[in-house]
Amino acid sequence: MVFTRLTAAEAASLVKDGDNIGLSGFTPAGTPKAVTAEIAKIAHAEHEAGRPYKIGIFTGASTGQSCDGVLSMEKAIRYRAPYTTNPEFRKHVNAGEIAYNDIHLSQMAQELRYGFLGEVDWAIIECCAIEDDGKVYLTAAGGIAPTVARLAKKGVILELNAFHSAKSIGIHDVYEPLDPPSRAAIEINKPSDRIGTTYLQIDPKKIVGVVECNIPDEARAFKDADPITDTIGQNVADFLLADMKRGIIPPSFLPFQSGVGSTANAILGALGSNPAVPAFNVYTEVLQDAVVGLMRSGRVKSASTCSLTVTNEVLQGIYEDINFFKDKLVLRQSEISNNPEIIRKLGVIAINTAIEVDLYGNVNSTQICGTKMMNGIGGSGDFERNAFLSIFTCPSVAKGGCISSIVPFCSHIDHTEHDVNVVITEQGVADLRGKSPVERAKAIIENCAHPDYKQLLWDYLKLADKGQTCHKLSAAFAMHDTFLREGDMHLTDYARYIIK
Ligand code: COA
Repeated sequence: MVFTRLTAAEAASLVKDGDNIGLSGFTPAGTPKAVTAEIAKIAHAEHEAGRPYKIGIFTGASTGQSCDGVLSMEKAIRYRAPYTTNPEFRKHVNAGEIAYNDIHLSQMAQELRYGFLGEVDWAIIECCAIEDDGKVYLTAAGGIAPTVARLAKKGVILELNAFHSAKSIGIHDVYEPLDPPSRAAIEINKPSDRIGTTYLQIDPKKIVGVVECNIPDEARAFKDADPITDTIGQNVADFLLADMKRGIIPPSFLPFQSGVGSTANAILGALGSNPAVPAFNVYTEVLQDAVVGLMRSGRVKSASTCSLTVTNEVLQGIYEDINFFKDKLVLRQSEISNNPEIIRKLGVIAINTAIEVDLYGNVNSTQICGTKMMNGIGGSGDFERNAFLSIFTCPSVAKGGCISSIVPFCSHIDHTEHDVNVVITEQGVADLRGKSPVERAKAIIENCAHPDYKQLLWDYLKLADKGQTCHKLSAAFAMHDTFLREGDMHLTDYARYIIK
């Protein structure tokens, strides 16, 4: 079957006010970029003409400027799920303009299938090659593409993006599980196992058109590693090596998952360059630049991921050396890369970045001062809840030292104290395993808090009412409140918060 060629504008004109679009991709990697940019132009024109135009977006994880960015600016997003990192989107969500549903990434595809999130009208899928029988080869991410392509009731639009080389055919392992009660065990027993196909099969009759384009991915470059992230990386490596010496981690090591962002990128770089850490495998959802270098040097033996969230230069390098990467790299759907069953079976060591951690080990990954959304939970919950070892890292202070990342009580909780084994900052390591809440609090203050804030945290613990998790509720957010009022947590005076 020869598919109709459409311009991006023609394809965008199919999407009407109130429609829900389902996208390929996971992070800006593999996300369609041509049609969504044209949808934003339609929204602009419709709004200028005084007509309503808003759509819903279902995707794998974050997208880039040509989707979340321009659509937010045009106030064209009614609803969106799940994770996002776009600053424009963040601004409009925090202004209360968008219904944002921040769900665990492993659950996105199945919640669509279960009908929890409404219907998918259009699927827009980025690909690097298409066959006449509807076999479609995805680009830099697995995401939720099979699910949205299958569920799309009005049709599928393909973006054939020449920026992505067809040499990459073969790196995907496309698999969509059945729903309960028919779901079977997922037979991935080591990170490199393959269970699916290298292509996404789409019913050719559903393909309404192909938009040809040549647009680079929009992955962000990371801040360079700095002495703080290097020290955190070193602390992580020392901690894991000590566990290996004690026989807790097997000498062959266990696969790593590492979160998003500059800290995570720097930590994996530090782990990989530490010769005492054996060469390891990666079972993760987002592969960042650092891991690609480690694969080339043999420090990372194989990597299973949902996306290649790498800079364009690194991505083109992978395409050029595809013969080196093909048997070491596999790209999966997010419900497989983040699948609790597999994460627990493989014994993944999960390392994610916290915004703040409280004295008992609860972690906030998403909300600044409890109310301003940063990015979303991403896959951190999928991995941390099910990991062999659940590690959270963060610098001990933020915003030039005016914020302590260790607080009495998290202003928002994404990961509970029950799911967190270890907290690591540049100050040191708090091993929370086997500890009671008060023992955890002492370990966290002693080992992880910045010296500037240790006394404030000890003082809080002293004035807290005794119990299982000791708190003085009226003062639990005194540090946050002081920051919001005076711009510096150092100025916290608990006396002001004690109700007499
Ligand atoms: N209070 C206020 N702001 C804080 C803060 C705190 N306790 N801790 C960090 N921040 C701010 C930083 O100052 C920085 O702000 P800026 O962008 O204005 O400079 C921003 O948050 C990001 O922090 P940074 O130190 O650059 O960290 P990062 O790039 O490593 O990202 C997260 C950290 C938490 C935002 C990021 O890891 C994330 O989105 N995590 C949630 C999703 C996730 O874990 N996914 C994992 C599976 S992929």
